[in-house]
Amino acid sequence: MRHNLSDVAALMKDRRSFSPEAMGPRKVHRDIVEEILRAGTWAGTHGMTQPWRFTVFSEEGLAVLRDGLPQWYANHAGPGNVNKARVAKLKARFDACNCVIGLGRVHDPEGRISEEDNAWAVASAVQNMHLMCTAYGLGAKWTTPKFMGRPEVKKALGLPEEGKVMGLFYVGYPEGDWPKSHRMPLEFVTRWQDGKVSSVREHELKPTLKK
Ligand SMILES: Cc1cc2nc3c(=O)[nH]c(=O)nc-3n(C[C@H](O)[C@H](O)[C@H](O)COP(=O)(O)O)c2cc1C
Repeated sequence: MRHNLSDVAALMKDRRSFSPEAMGPRKVHRDIVEEILRAGTWAGTHGMTQPWRFTVFSEEGLAVLRDGLPQWYANHAGPGNVNKARVAKLKARFDACNCVIGLGRVHDPEGRISEEDNAWAVASAVQNMHLMCTAYGLGAKWTTPKFMGRPEVKKALGLPEEGKVMGLFYVGYPEGDWPKSHRMPLEFVTRWQDGKVSSVREHELKPTLKK
């Protein structure tokens, strides 16, 4: 064994998404943010493209998001469709959360590696970052609202024209309890094809699986 299996499994199970509103005012220091980002860069990357690009919003830089999120949402919703409660919620999240990492990806200039593979690499990086947050006792949440695809978001993240926004990753010390979650048992999501018995995934038998 190269690592402590129970520690690794416990870390993965303990990783939870926290609403930014559930984060407290304690500051997330830059050296910790750098450790989190460094963990991200150790994700797998097809062809070593290392397509992840991060934009850290902190201190006065958070104003970009505090002003930007409601505006980007409103631009996306269109006149007459703006939900005021959602605007207020988007603004209020920066009362608590003091560190947000903009997630982006760039594409392989030589076109050897597909857009999908580069997106999956960034998703793997985010998982590493989230695990690192958990190890530090930091709450985090990856969000990908539809308006993230707007050009003004790409500009705010400083991504090149051909880059893609992959969402925002909120990081902060939790104010309340660490949330709990659950997952479907393996038989719902796994099919063994071992040449003996043809097993059937449980959800193929029960298509109306409840959340
Ligand atoms: C690719 C991706 C996008 C997500 N986007 C959102 C989002 O836009 N808003 C949100 O509230 N949560 C978002 N989440 C977080 C999920 O809601 C969360 O992972 C899920 O509820 C399971 O909870 P857990 O992360 O604590 O296990 C996203 C998660 C992933 C992996």
